[in-house]
Amino acid sequence: MNAAIRAVVKVAASRGVRVMGIEGGFDGLIDGRGRELTRSVEGGLAPLSEVQANGNSGGTFLGSARSERFFSEEWRNAATNQMLELGIGGLVVIGGNGSIAGAHALATENDLPVVAIPASIDNDIGCTNSAIGVDTALNTITEACDRISDTAQALKRAFIVEVMGRRSGYLAMAAAVASAADAVLLPEQQRTEPELIDAIEKVIRGSFATDRNKQQVLIIKAEGVEVPTDHLVRAVDERLGDLRIDVRATVLGHVVRGGNPSFHDRMLAGRFGLVAVDALLQGVTDVMTAWRSTVPGGAPTDDPTVSLFRIKKVLEETERLRDGTSDVTRRRLRRMEEIQGVLAL
Ligand code: F6P
Repeated sequence: MNAAIRAVVKVAASRGVRVMGIEGGFDGLIDGRGRELTRSVEGGLAPLSEVQANGNSGGTFLGSARSERFFSEEWRNAATNQMLELGIGGLVVIGGNGSIAGAHALATENDLPVVAIPASIDNDIGCTNSAIGVDTALNTITEACDRISDTAQALKRAFIVEVMGRRSGYLAMAAAVASAADAVLLPEQQRTEPELIDAIEKVIRGSFATDRNKQQVLIIKAEGVEVPTDHLVRAVDERLGDLRIDVRATVLGHVVRGGNPSFHDRMLAGRFGLVAVDALLQGVTDVMTAWRSTVPGGAPTDDPTVSLFRIKKVLEETERLRDGTSDVTRRRLRRMEEIQGVLAL
């Protein structure tokens, strides 16, 4: 998100527009915690040095929050009043589904110019093929899996590695392909606990069978699969007593959320920032920037890979991603079914 802030500030400054950063997300907006991120220099405006200094690091130097107050219209009105008092004429909201829904509420209830930039490692935001953070998270997961594989190989063990993603299996799915894992467990598959245990047992037995003689087994599990990972490990361990194979669990957790952004995420942030600022300056509102969208209905921009979607459509498509009725989810699941046998090879 720091890279996106940097892009927004630099593009706006280059267009002669001052930028104010809001500390602590929507909570900060309610409390009027804005501070200037541009300064006057000879010939125009320039970003403050903290914008440049933080641009290549993870997280957000402005801070963020999950704002309870923003769920109520009364507090959203208070945020609008603060915006007007601070002299803010347009808002770029950078964040996940909660932030995008908040952006939509501000744009529609109080007729404010708002453009959203999707940022969430979960890749669970409708209409965009990727969001800021996804690629960096996947790089971290892949590297972690490589490291875990060293131990797994050396000691001929099976590992179940749990990765974040809230209710979305995207990170697990993509990481499984990149790490050449033996199987992947996704919430979208809606498997019962006995089905999960059967599937894990089958993969481990198949991999360590004498004619296959694999040296390790790596199974990636999405956190959205509700059965706890250590529970699965215990259950499978009991069933595999005859094999004398050690099954271990690693929960990667918040490690996956931090770290300096990858090239791809910095590039995404830069291109989204440019499109977002120019959209606001052209009077466009209540839209989100999207990357290589496969969903019809986006408005093209000067950047051939970035389009703008009405946030209402984004929220509807996000709901479809969640309940499994989106074409994107269906396609992903179909692909996973198809490659199930490939992963296990
Ligand atoms: O939405 C991003 C995410 O990292 C999810 O993958 C995860 O479930 C959640 O946030 C963790 O949030 P918190 O740090 O508030 O527990």
